[in-house]
Amino acid sequence: MPEEVLRQAADEMLDWHGSGMSVMEMSHRGPEFMQIHSEALLDLRELMAVPASHHILFLQGGGIGENAIVPLNLFGVKPRADFVVTGSWSQKSQKEALKYGASHIAASGRTEAGFTHAPAMSEWKLSDDPAYVHLCTNETIDGVETFEIPDLGDIPLVADASSHILSRPMDIAKYGVLYGGAQKNIGMAGVTVVIVREDLLDRAMSICPSAFEWKTVAANNSMFNTPPTYAIYIAGLVFKWLKRQGGLTAIEARNIEKAKLLYDTIDASRFYINKVERRARSRMNVPFFLADESRNEDFLAGAKARGLLQLKGHKSVGGMRASIYNAVPLEAVKALVEYMKEFEAKHA
Ligand SMILES: Cc1ncc(COP(=O)(O)O)c(C=O)c1O
Repeated sequence: MPEEVLRQAADEMLDWHGSGMSVMEMSHRGPEFMQIHSEALLDLRELMAVPASHHILFLQGGGIGENAIVPLNLFGVKPRADFVVTGSWSQKSQKEALKYGASHIAASGRTEAGFTHAPAMSEWKLSDDPAYVHLCTNETIDGVETFEIPDLGDIPLVADASSHILSRPMDIAKYGVLYGGAQKNIGMAGVTVVIVREDLLDRAMSICPSAFEWKTVAANNSMFNTPPTYAIYIAGLVFKWLKRQGGLTAIEARNIEKAKLLYDTIDASRFYINKVERRARSRMNVPFFLADESRNEDFLAGAKARGLLQLKGHKSVGGMRASIYNAVPLEAVKALVEYMKEFEAKHA
């Protein structure tokens, strides 16, 4: 979270703009929250340059919820989809879709070293006329980011962008659906942003729960049920912070600089290893391994002593992972890199 946003939320916690209420205490249909809600939607549309062809929905359920919500909304006509599996999250999406229909793996980025490859479209083997093709454009655990987004013509592309949404400009017109949980670059857990093209609202299965049916949610301006009000308020503050930073082009330049510093440090050393092919290295999640893994605990303890926190890799892959989301300042990455060099000098 940007510190500025946390401070503003703290200042406004008990009394939002002289209303005498905390945002948590407002009616979601009252004028105060309606203003917070509509500004958040407008600011997000502006930041991401979302075209008029696409709705922006605020849902609940997170990324894992969307693994079910997407097929429930798109399998109404033909219950089968294709999946490009580039890591743990897209693998989960593919498995969950099997509950509602057929899922075909069109391409996999798994190599002997784990998920290290983002297959280009020339490697995708699409099935005949799937309801959609699903891709996780940034694999949070494996550190694999897909930068080349193909044009699939009439087949809708569905992207899980949970862990890099708002990190750079994206051409939303290329996507049928793009979704992301909030707890990385948007704000706090609890709200899920779903951007969906108008013509895809008519494809839901009859068993789709109303609260998750995009058509119903869109028709009710994301107020079909009580929305996660505080999470939307925090997201709105983050959107305004991003606008003050200069928008997504400016934040992308900062993210490139941060990621380059870290990858250059890893590449210049034989003590640290990143296994992901260079063209697919994530700018948000940088997994790395110590050549001598017996030093992992020492590395983490030394980092913690310096205030460098949450560097342990996901339990499924081990090693380390630096998540350098939008709100992580360049100075923090510099501090990490300094520490890594010192640790190497001491132990190599
Ligand atoms: C890319 C991606 N998809 C889905 C999820 C699942 O999110 P949630 O736990 O909010 O459902 C995560 C969580 O880290 C993620 O990084």
